[in-house]
Amino acid sequence: MFKAVLFDLDGVITDTAEYHYKAWKELARGLGIDIDRKFNEQLKGVSREDSLTLILQKGNKLEDISEDEFRQLAKEKNDHYVTLIKSITKEDIYPGIAELLKDLSKNQIKIALASASKNGPALLDMMGIRHYFDAIVDPASLKQGKPAPDIFLEAAKEVCVPIHECIGIEDAKAGIEAIKASGALPVGVGSTQDLGDDIVVVPNTKDLTLSFLKRIWEEK
Ligand code: BG6
Ligand code: MG
Repeated sequence: MFKAVLFDLDGVITDTAEYHYKAWKELARGLGIDIDRKFNEQLKGVSREDSLTLILQKGNKLEDISEDEFRQLAKEKNDHYVTLIKSITKEDIYPGIAELLKDLSKNQIKIALASASKNGPALLDMMGIRHYFDAIVDPASLKQGKPAPDIFLEAAKEVCVPIHECIGIEDAKAGIEAIKASGALPVGVGSTQDLGDDIVVVPNTKDLTLSFLKRIWEEK
């Protein structure tokens, strides 16, 4: 049996992936750069700074921006994002996730957060679920972001479970690649079109029950 579940947050625990998209779209529009949902798939799971770099590259504007302007733009996006998420509560937890956290902890299965977001811990507090987490990886402490495996390896280490005995749950292509590279078993939330047809993908978090995870672990 698996001994830990390593969770992404944005787009897995709650709908904040949508707020990241809104905030980036508006920032990009202000710079005369149009981004759509297809482009946004590349930003999912990717750090604030790397996301801004990708957007500026898309608009051929990376060279025109000074370091100070870059920092200012990243701050502007985050300020907007923080206003968008300010009224998030436990009502906003995706279907099935609270039950899954409860069942995992009842069964002594470790729970870790492997989110690239610096807003992750605050969001767990706002949703009232921080107490379920045995570890929360600080993304600022890592050398490489997703798709590198670092964050999942660190999450497994912090809960003292070998990575091969962990399941990782992700909604982003970069995140799935990170889980695969780490050696944990990946579970995708979303579509096989976005995440690949070589892994287990559920269309909705309500499918993520403990018995479902046990079944796919046995079948792997
Ligand atoms: C990831 C999101 O979880 O966190 C990305 O999928 C986001 O869209 C990244 O850019 C960093 O988040 P934050 O809150 O630190 O800007
Ligand atoms: Mg995500």
